[in-house]
Amino acid sequence: MQMFRNEICNLLSGFVPIDSQQIMADLETPPTAEMGDFAFPCFKLAKEMRNSPVKIASELAERLPVSDLFACIEARGPYINFFCNRQKLALVTVHAVLEQQEEYGKLQVGQGKTIVIDFSAPNIAKPFGIGHLRSTVIGHSLYQIYLALGYQCVGINHLGDWGTQFGKLIVAYLKWGDDARLEEDPITYLYELYVRFHREEEAEPVLAEEARSWFKRLEDGDESARLLWQRFRELSLAEFKRIYNLLGVRFDSYQGESFYNELLADTISQVEEQGLTEISAGALIVSLEEQGMPPCLLRKQDGATLYATRDLCAAIYRYQTYGFEKMLYVVGADQTLHFQQVFSVLKKMGYAWAERCVHVPFGLIGFKEGKMSTRQGTLVFLEDVLDRATELALQIIQEKNAGLENKAEVARQVGIGAVIFGDLSNDRVKNIEFDWEKVLDFTGETAPYVQYAHARICSILRKAEDWPGRYDATLLGTDEEQAVVRTLARFSDAIVRAAEIDKPSVIARYLVDLAAEFNKFYHQCPVLHAEEKLRNARLALIDAVRQVLLNGLALLGIAAPQEM
Ligand code: ARG
Repeated sequence: MQMFRNEICNLLSGFVPIDSQQIMADLETPPTAEMGDFAFPCFKLAKEMRNSPVKIASELAERLPVSDLFACIEARGPYINFFCNRQKLALVTVHAVLEQQEEYGKLQVGQGKTIVIDFSAPNIAKPFGIGHLRSTVIGHSLYQIYLALGYQCVGINHLGDWGTQFGKLIVAYLKWGDDARLEEDPITYLYELYVRFHREEEAEPVLAEEARSWFKRLEDGDESARLLWQRFRELSLAEFKRIYNLLGVRFDSYQGESFYNELLADTISQVEEQGLTEISAGALIVSLEEQGMPPCLLRKQDGATLYATRDLCAAIYRYQTYGFEKMLYVVGADQTLHFQQVFSVLKKMGYAWAERCVHVPFGLIGFKEGKMSTRQGTLVFLEDVLDRATELALQIIQEKNAGLENKAEVARQVGIGAVIFGDLSNDRVKNIEFDWEKVLDFTGETAPYVQYAHARICSILRKAEDWPGRYDATLLGTDEEQAVVRTLARFSDAIVRAAEIDKPSVIARYLVDLAAEFNKFYHQCPVLHAEEKLRNARLALIDAVRQVLLNGLALLGIAAPQEM
C-alpha cells in the first residue's frame, strides 16, 4: 500500500499547501470498499485555500493528473476518494508476499529505537496463574509486533523473587518441609507450605515474628537464608520455563525484583537528596497529594523496602542500560495506581523519559466452567488450562480427521493456539469470560478457524502438483479476489495500528477477516478446476493468503499446522 500512498502524495503535492508528510498522515481508509481504498479529507485546507472543504475536494479531484496506479479519483463531500487500479494492486501485492515470504508485512519504522517490554513476571514459589498467562501472551505478542516494525526489543521478566513472603516460606520449610516433595513438585508444594503458614499463623502469632526475622536475615545476606531462597527460586524458575517452552515464549532478561537489592539504597538517597521525601508514621514516603494520589511508600518503619521502591529503581536502571524509546509494563489493571505512583515519582525526580513509560493494563479472566477455578483456593493453574485445551482439541481432531498423522502435536498447537487467541482477540482492557466451546469453535472467531483456513490452503497447494509456477496476478479481478488482495495489502497497516495502541487484538481481528475473505473467495471461485491461467493466478493468491496467515499468527505467538 505504501506505493499507492506515495503516489497520492506526488499527485497532491503540487496542488495543496501542505507537505507530503502531512498528506501521508491525513490519509484515511474509507469504511467500505465502495468508497475507495484511500480518502483524503480536505477540512484542513479550507482556511488557506479560502474555500469550503466540499468545493476544494471537487476541484482537486478534477484537476489531479491521471495515474496508472488509480482507476478512479473522485470527490465525495469533503473527501477525495482514490480507487486503486485493481490489476496493479493485485500484481504488486501478490508479488510482494510471495517474494518476501516471512518478511512480508515487516517495516523499518522502528530502526535504531529500543522498546523495553516488562511482561509475565510471575512470583516465585507461587503458581503461575491465569493473570500471568494474560501478561505473558500479550507481552510476547507486543514483542513480536514491535520487532516486525524494526524496533530492537528487550523482553524482561521482572520475577517476583523478593519480599516478606520469603521469610514466611523459610520458616514454613524449616518447620514442616519435606525435601522429596519439594523436588517432586516444587511450586505446588511451596504454595502448600505458604498456605499452611497463614493457617497456623492465626493460632500461633509468634510465627509472624519469626518470619520477619528470617526475612531480615535474608536481606542482610545471611548464608543459610540465602541458600534456601536460591533453591526456591531455581526450582520455581525451572517450572516457569517449562510453561514458557510450551507457549514458545522467551525473555532477554530474568532480572527480577531481587536484582535491585544492591541498588535500592542509592535510589532512595537520590530521592531524599532531591528533597522529595517525608517521614510519615516512621515510614519514608513521597507525597503525591498534588497528583491526587496516595503517597508512594519507599521504606517501611522496620527498614524493609517495597515493591514500588524496586520498580522505581528498576526503571532508572533500565533507562541507563537500554536508553529506551518506550517501556511497556504489561500488568493487570489492578496495578494501575501502583504504576501511576511510580511514574509520578520518576517525573518529580526530573526524568523526562518517565513520559515514555506506559502501563499496558488488562482485565481479568473468568471461567465459565466452574471446575477450572477450584484446584486450590481460587487460583487457576495455567498448566491445567493448557492441558485441558490440548485434550479438547485432540477430541475434535479425532472426530474431524481421524487419519491425521501427528495428532498429538497438532492438538497441542490447536489447543494452545485457541487459549492464546481466546485471550488476544479480546480488547485487552475488558474482562474475559473464558468459554471452552467458544475458543475451540472451528467456525467462530477463533485460532482454530484461522489455523483451519491455513491448513486448507496447504492442502489445496499439495494437490496442485505443478505449483509454484508462473502466474499473472492481473487476472485476479472479481470482487472476491479483490477483497482478498486488499486485505493482504493492508497487513502492515494492521501491524502499525496494533503497536500504536498496544493491542494485539488488532492482528487477531485482521486474521479473522482475512480467513473469512479467503473462505468467501474459495466458495465462489474454483481454484484447481479453473482454466489454466486463472488457476495459476488463484494458486498464487491463496499461497499469499497462506503466507500472511502464517506471519500474522506468528505475531500472536500461535503455530500454524499444515494439516489438521
Ligand atoms: N510479580 C508481579 C505480580 O505478580 C508483577 C510484576 C510486574 N512488573 C513490574 N515491573 N512491577 O503481581
